[in-house]
Amino acid sequence: MSRGGAARTAAAEPFLGNLRLSLAHGSELDHAILLELRRDAWAPEPAVPPGLERSWAVGVDEHDANAIHGCVWERRRLVASARLTLHDRFADVPDRGLYPPDLEVEGMPIASLNRLVVAPGYRGLGLAHVLDEVRCRWAVGLGAQAIIGAVARGHEGRLERLGFTPKTFFETSFVSKAGAQVSKPSVLLVR
Ligand SMILES: CC(C)(COP(=O)(O)OP(=O)(O)OC[C@H]1O[C@@H](n2cnc3c(N)ncnc32)[C@H](O)[C@@H]1OP(=O)(O)O)[C@@H](O)C(=O)NCCC(=O)NCCS
Repeated sequence: MSRGGAARTAAAEPFLGNLRLSLAHGSELDHAILLELRRDAWAPEPAVPPGLERSWAVGVDEHDANAIHGCVWERRRLVASARLTLHDRFADVPDRGLYPPDLEVEGMPIASLNRLVVAPGYRGLGLAHVLDEVRCRWAVGLGAQAIIGAVARGHEGRLERLGFTPKTFFETSFVSKAGAQVSKPSVLLVR
C-alpha cells in the first residue's frame, strides 16, 4: 500500500525558459495527459516496458493515483514527469517482482523513484536530473528513511551523484517493436 496522500499540489515555478516544475498528487493529475507523455517518451525507444507495447491503457498503474508526480510543463503541455511513491513495506514498492525475491531494503517508510519520462523534444536539458533531485528532496521531506531507484546498466551515474549506491543487479524484460522479448541489464540503487 503506498502512502503518497500526504503531499498536495505545489504551485508551478518557472525554472528554465518557459518550463515550469510542479509537484502534483496523483489524485489531482489528469492521467490521460500522463499516459500521453509516457507513450510519446517511450515511442522512439527500440524496446518498451511490457504492457506499453500493445495497449497504452496499461501505461498507468495502480500506484499512479496515490503517488506524487514531479511534472515539467511548457504552458499546458506536460513535457516530463517522474513518480515518487512512499511505502511502509519494501514488498509494496512498484516493480518489486523484478528484483531478487529474497532482497530486503532497510529503512521504512521507503521511497521509490520510478516512471521517469522526458518527451523526445526536451531531452538533454537536464530535466531527468532536476526530477531526480526534487524527488529526493520531497522523499526526505515526507520522512523517507531510504530511497530506491532503478536504471538501465550504464546509467548508474545519474543516481550515484545524488548519493545512491548499487544494491542489486537484475534483468528487465522489454518488448521490441517486432514483439520480441528483450532482456535489459538493470541495477537497483539505494540511498
Ligand atoms: C532517460 C530519459 C528520462 C533522460 O531524459 P533527459 O532529460 O534527456 O536526461 P538529462 O538531460 O537530465 O540527463 C541525461 C541522463 O539520463 C541518463 N539516461 C539516459 N538514458 C537512460 C536510461 N535508459 N535509464 C536511465 N538513465 C538514462 C543519462 O545517463 C544521463 O545521465 P548522466 O548525465 O549522468 O550521464 C529520457 O531519455 C526518456 O524519457 N527515455 C525514455 C524513458 C526511459 O528510458 N526512462 C528511464 C527510466 S530510469
